[in-house]
Amino acid sequence: MIIHNAFGVDLGTSAVKVYCHHTGQTIAEKNMIAIRNGRQVLAVGDDAFEMYEKAPDNIQVSRPVMNGRIADVAQVEYVLHTMIGRADRSAGYAPMIFFSAPVNMSEIEKRAYYSISHAGYFRSPRVYLVDRPVCDAISLGINIPQTRGSMIVNIGGQNTDISVIANEQVIISTEISIGGQHLNEAICNEIRRQENLIVGRRTARRLKAVLATLGEDIRETRQVTGMNTLSGLPRQGTVSSELVSFAVEGQISQIATEIRTFLERTPPQIRESVAEEGIYLTGGTTRIPSIDRYLKRVIGCPVNLSGYFEMCTIRGLAELIRNKELQKWAYTIGKKK
Ligand SMILES: Nc1ncnc2c1ncn2[C@@H]1O[C@H](COP(=O)(O)OP(=O)(O)OP(=O)(O)O)[C@@H](O)[C@H]1O
Ligand SMILES: [Mg+2]
Repeated sequence: MIIHNAFGVDLGTSAVKVYCHHTGQTIAEKNMIAIRNGRQVLAVGDDAFEMYEKAPDNIQVSRPVMNGRIADVAQVEYVLHTMIGRADRSAGYAPMIFFSAPVNMSEIEKRAYYSISHAGYFRSPRVYLVDRPVCDAISLGINIPQTRGSMIVNIGGQNTDISVIANEQVIISTEISIGGQHLNEAICNEIRRQENLIVGRRTARRLKAVLATLGEDIRETRQVTGMNTLSGLPRQGTVSSELVSFAVEGQISQIATEIRTFLERTPPQIRESVAEEGIYLTGGTTRIPSIDRYLKRVIGCPVNLSGYFEMCTIRGLAELIRNKELQKWAYTIGKKK
């Protein structure tokens, strides 16, 4: 039983997820911050996202995490403290904070997790890092001490992480700069190309969630309002599932190629284990219907889709906080298992 409070924090590019041990609750909000005149914080999380692409020029709405890594320490610190405060009004004395962290981090990047936790109102926090694929593996029910080779692919907001766990650790890992935001951009570009219409990223994101598919024959359309590329005037247009899915497939096919290349480079005994077990697929972008069947066909290897999507990593962290046995996968700065 942990007497001090403990928090699990997954600082994603798209969303920040916080698990609070005392309440047993997890909250998730957009990882965004709105700042006026470069000084005054106006909104954090979902409230800041509401202002995205709508705010006047003196309000800057930004993402403090880029490519899954802390990009702006001061802003992430603000987001962290606000989100922990929303998860539980009082963090209490000496709270434990477990972060899911990228695998290949420099010492400076690791230190950033310490600085953001030690600043602000936490009293004597104890900070631990856990490799993101390890969190995913716990959540997916992979037996880490026993697996001969499990491959996890997490397709998030800005990144796709491909990792292999064997010998009780992450033995190989790579990051590809393709995630949900690139899909949104590809959708915007395709609408401009086919329909001569400029739409915002938020519109593209909404279209992706309702119209994208990688296999099923959906013949749906949606009305959108954008700016005519020729006249510069507002205009309505129709976007089909076919257009959105075409744009999405262009990006996902690149991920498939990378996974195949990665698999080819892994040692044969691990490849054998992965082929037997199937590739584990997780992250918010894997909500696209039929993505598992698509990747299975293109890569030529079985694929297991996790039903936890964007919540997979934080679920693993929560389980690690609840189960002391699993805490051997957590490390402090300078000390890695
Ligand atoms: N129904 C859906 N269809 C397609 N994509 C979706 C859907 N729902 C959410 N997404 C996408 O999932 C992404 C967020 O996923 P996730 O929360 O796993 O990312 P993250 O952990 O914040 O980012 P990263 O791991 O890259 O740092 C967003 O780009 C979002 O648009
Ligand atoms: Mg993530």
